[in-house]
Amino acid sequence: MRLTDEEKGIFDGKQGEAARIALSVLSDLGDLFGAEELMRVSQVHIDATLYMVDAGLEFAEKMVDWGGKVAVPTSLNPSAIDLQRWKAYGVPAETLSKHKRLEAAYLNMRATPTWTCAPYQHGIIPRFGEQIAWGESNAIAFANSIIGARTNRYADLMDICAAIIGKVPKFGLHLAENRKAEMLIQLKDFSSSMLADDAIYPLLGYLLGEMAGDRTAALTGIPPDVKIDSLKGFCAAAASSGAVGLCHLVGITPEAQTLGMCLQGSKPQTILEITPQAVRETEEKLRTVKNDGVDLIVTGCPHYSTAEFARLVQLVKGKKVHSSVVFWVFTNRTVYAWIKNNGILSDLIAGGVMVFTDGCPLQYPRESWQFKAAMTDSAKFANYCFSQRGLDAAYGSIEDCVATAMRGKIYRKDSPWSKK
Ligand code: F3S
Repeated sequence: MRLTDEEKGIFDGKQGEAARIALSVLSDLGDLFGAEELMRVSQVHIDATLYMVDAGLEFAEKMVDWGGKVAVPTSLNPSAIDLQRWKAYGVPAETLSKHKRLEAAYLNMRATPTWTCAPYQHGIIPRFGEQIAWGESNAIAFANSIIGARTNRYADLMDICAAIIGKVPKFGLHLAENRKAEMLIQLKDFSSSMLADDAIYPLLGYLLGEMAGDRTAALTGIPPDVKIDSLKGFCAAAASSGAVGLCHLVGITPEAQTLGMCLQGSKPQTILEITPQAVRETEEKLRTVKNDGVDLIVTGCPHYSTAEFARLVQLVKGKKVHSSVVFWVFTNRTVYAWIKNNGILSDLIAGGVMVFTDGCPLQYPRESWQFKAAMTDSAKFANYCFSQRGLDAAYGSIEDCVATAMRGKIYRKDSPWSKK
């Protein structure tokens, strides 16, 4: 890596130990990927915000001790818990202090306490072509694919280093030539009623992630008027079943207004199809619940938006969640304030729905909640629920999730793609 005089000075410790360590990590990363130099980024989103083990906490605290401060606007992914309503969330006192220490470390580094995994909806929102360094797989896929900002899939702790220096090695998806679509995926035999159903998008995203892995795919057939929240569910699922950093949704992705634009003059190496049959199979695959018993409903993975709450409250108002079921929604503090000010929160609470901010439902405190099975409108959550937490799960539309919550048993209405 070629370093500028300023960077050489940082390397020699002229800007303190935190900057020296951060630069040496970034420099090693650049060497590993064959980058020749560092480049500026305008903002960073830190994913290393969940307390899971002491190592992550100690790294953040060490950076603080060494004088680390963020050099560019920096937002934060969720904590593991609701940092304000931790009591209602059942966080044991013995682990609370570690979450709070991590919060203190990031605030000390002057990061912006957004605590959300949908920073593209409520955070420091990037624009088309902006060079950024984001952690959190769903946010990375959304930033690259829907906004057309440019980021690699930055790993935990690497994101802190990028925030402290305000630069990253110039490689990967920061460069136009590496954003070319290598494969083409086409939707086949989908009717307009199938594509008008919001619940299909996380399933399509899951399929795309499986097919693409870490390759950049172009996908044709998504209607241009698809809702932004459907694209959120799509990207989250794609980045959970595959290592998707960028996929070109032709007609939607700014760099892929036509297929030719994202192929950059070459031909796709592979051409694949997604059919309604594959969607049906994916829906079944995402169901590990053995019978129809469910005692947890999870929504807000990624964090719910105002539009999603507006839909949810219509479904819940005047009804009551079954006594055997816990219904959780996760969001950020901005949306929480909005639903509180608009009477949505009180209607949801009256219906038995619990709304949390800051946290990630995948990290729920198992000591306090002995769930048997969950239902969710997030294909990402359904995918990770059993593999990461050992909790059986089923995927369904938000309408099915609400109907299930009211009955205390899995309910699924026929979807347009469920008929053969
Ligand atoms: Fe967000 Fe946790 Fe889901 S970070 S995307 S709520 S797994």
